[in-house]
Amino acid sequence: MKIDIIPVFGNITREQLNGKLAVVFDVLRATTTIVTAVANGCKEVIPVVTVEEALAYAENQANVILGGERESLLIPGFHLGNSPLEYTSERVKGRTVVITTTNGTHAIRRAAQGAAKVIIGSFLNAGGVAKEVLRTESDVVLVCAGTRGKLSLEDTVAAGMVCRELAKIARGKEAFLPGSDLVVAACRLAGFYKEDPLPALKDSLHGQKLAALGFAEDLAFCSRLNSTEVTPVFRDGRIIVETE
Ligand code: MLT
Repeated sequence: MKIDIIPVFGNITREQLNGKLAVVFDVLRATTTIVTAVANGCKEVIPVVTVEEALAYAENQANVILGGERESLLIPGFHLGNSPLEYTSERVKGRTVVITTTNGTHAIRRAAQGAAKVIIGSFLNAGGVAKEVLRTESDVVLVCAGTRGKLSLEDTVAAGMVCRELAKIARGKEAFLPGSDLVVAACRLAGFYKEDPLPALKDSLHGQKLAALGFAEDLAFCSRLNSTEVTPVFRDGRIIVETE
């Protein structure tokens, strides 16, 4: 089986997704926030593309938390921004979180157009994602959201970390063949940052922007490698934990 990396979700084609397991990364911060909300017991996360969609969803449902960002900041009228630190169990347990972000929620919805299954990846659940990837019988595509149409260091390193975790746990079992040199490059890059992704987040342009906006603590949180095993799945418009 093959594993490949898409550096920027906007360039993805249906053929690249067809029938595969897709793992979506927007580690600063959408997918980290979603993994955190799910790990903290929310009922489901609904990723939507526009603010209008989010508001329309909330109008027809009770017990909804509206979250997300524009220009990395709280959207007027929403309950929560896009900091994973806001998605505590006190705020989200048992509730529906509707979230819209600049890149991440688009990437998730785009990946669902063709992939057999979509899971949500981050540094927090890299090891759990690798286990899920290993369980799959299909080819795998690691979809990086990137930032505004450009490759982002943090998502590429996260994809590389999953490849490293895979190599660790797959020893002796059937290995995945790299579908492109980007897989090799991302693994090498992840090897450079080794077990601590925080310097990568600090090196990244989006990380620097977030720190300048006062979100430096988010970088530390988003860098917590393997702090949860939760691997949320996006299916039929909802992100949930699937029980076997
Ligand atoms: C996004 O989806 O573009 C990001 O999560 C933006 C952010 O860091 O708030």
